[in-house]
Amino acid sequence: MLEVSELHSFYGEAHVLQGVSLKVAPGEIVALLGRNGMGKTTTIRSIMNLRQPVVRQGDITFRGERLNDLPPHAIARKKIALVPQGRRLFASLTVMEHLTMLKPASAKHGWTVERVLDTFPRLAERGQHRGNQLSGGERQMLAVGRALMIDPELILMDEPSEGLAPVMVRHLETVIASLRKEGLGILLVEQNLYSALALADRIYLIETGRIVHHGTAVELQADPGSLQRYLGVH
Ligand SMILES: Nc1ncnc2c1ncn2[C@@H]1O[C@H](COP(=O)(O)OP(=O)(O)OP(=O)(O)O)[C@@H](O)[C@H]1O
Ligand SMILES: [Mg+2]
Repeated sequence: MLEVSELHSFYGEAHVLQGVSLKVAPGEIVALLGRNGMGKTTTIRSIMNLRQPVVRQGDITFRGERLNDLPPHAIARKKIALVPQGRRLFASLTVMEHLTMLKPASAKHGWTVERVLDTFPRLAERGQHRGNQLSGGERQMLAVGRALMIDPELILMDEPSEGLAPVMVRHLETVIASLRKEGLGILLVEQNLYSALALADRIYLIETGRIVHHGTAVELQADPGSLQRYLGVH
């Protein structure tokens, strides 16, 4: 479904992604793991063409169609949703305004405001609260809910569990696993190795802009050398 091949991305003259290749199939959760500053967000932003960074080399295709030269809104229309790192929301808009600002899509997966509120009941209680009045966990639920409102086929999630209480992380994991069951493809950037191992079918490890390891979650779990070397985990 998503195929990224030999991507080279730059911030100005800084050559950050140095040949990143990865794939995500429908109904698959693929995790991209790596330490701080290794190029995870840069990979996600490159896929969405959110200059900066600028992709200078490589191909990004979605269902065989090249995305490289499309603007972000056109990429979103292909049903690729982004949950950005740091849950970027509008401070002055309410929960309901965030969820209804995008034109409801002809929803193949049936994502409506009602269904988002059923999935995240806390958001229903907080409907009239503004972005800047929400807790970290509520903001993350809203960022995911807003992504679902475009009725995506593929979701790119950049560290969704960052800063969340364990109970919220579990809830989010349940939601992400249920999206896979519906056949969505998910590219999950994580610092939380345990969340990634629990959810992902396949895992890529990135170091200074290069994919240095790739395998199933089961294979990675059985490979303490790579965990230690690339993630600093014992
Ligand atoms: N806007 C920018 N301008 C210049 N360099 C940048 C910019 N954003 C990121 N970089 C650099 O690109 C490299 C990769 O950053 P990136 O944000 O992709 O890392 P990351 O893996 O997402 O890290 P984190 O886990 O901290 O979110 C880093 O060296 C960073 O300093
Ligand atoms: Mg990042």
